[in-house]
Amino acid sequence: MHLLIPAAGSGSRMKEEWTRQGKVQRNKLFLPLLGQPILAWTLLAAQSAPTIEWIGLIAQPDDWPDVKTLLATLALTKPVAFIPGGDTRQASVYNGLRDLPSGAARVLIHDGARCLVTPDLLDRCSAALDHCQGFVAAIPVKDTIKVVAPESQVVQATPDRRQLWAAQTPQGFDVAALRHCHDQGVQQRWSVTDDAALFEQGGLPVEIVPGEETNLKVTTPMDLAIAQFILHQRGLDPHQLAFFKT
Ligand code: CTP
Ligand code: MG
Repeated sequence: MHLLIPAAGSGSRMKEEWTRQGKVQRNKLFLPLLGQPILAWTLLAAQSAPTIEWIGLIAQPDDWPDVKTLLATLALTKPVAFIPGGDTRQASVYNGLRDLPSGAARVLIHDGARCLVTPDLLDRCSAALDHCQGFVAAIPVKDTIKVVAPESQVVQATPDRRQLWAAQTPQGFDVAALRHCHDQGVQQRWSVTDDAALFEQGGLPVEIVPGEETNLKVTTPMDLAIAQFILHQRGLDPHQLAFFKT
């Protein structure tokens, strides 16, 4: 299975908080988490998932020297291709699809910022593409969600929680179908925050694969603290990587 890892963001929500504290960061994925950059944990999970055979790392060229240093440290055995990032996540994934090896029929896309993904979830996601064209890893929401009018800030509706799922990555697709949806997205100026949304807007079915509650996206400093706690719970520290069979 081919895996694209979008890692070309700037981490503005993380940065906002850090700037308030007088610290400046370029890309949150290089912030340390138990002694390794956040991105290292994502790459180690991909390395340890037997179904993943190729990794396309989508990063801003400014970050490539740091990514190269990181890869040299991790000594992954799987091939890693560098792909330039775009201005938005959508544009970054578009570049990733363009640069997939020619024989790639199916693809998983997993955010670099979801660094707690397990090899097992990646493998379950690869298997899902044996019986569907598109899926999203997701978990049922725990909170009651309100729809709020942006201007008045008045609640408009309370959707039935049983129908609400929180989307995660990995998401996976038939490559030709996803490329078609991305092209449509460019032509019709759709702006989305995940690839499943493009599939949906293209009229194609997206199945659910049960995600993992610990598969959080590191967005704010609090997420980083929670990620550290979860890795500790797993008994992981940088010198004890038994979880990952590198
Ligand atoms: N991403 C990307 N290219 C972009 C923007 C985001 O590849 N132009 C990636 C991020 O690196 C991240 C994933 O998409 O792994 C999910 O995005 P998000 O968590 O929103 O990260 P950032 O965009 O970096 O953060 P923020 O939105 O707070 O600026
Ligand atoms: Mg973003």
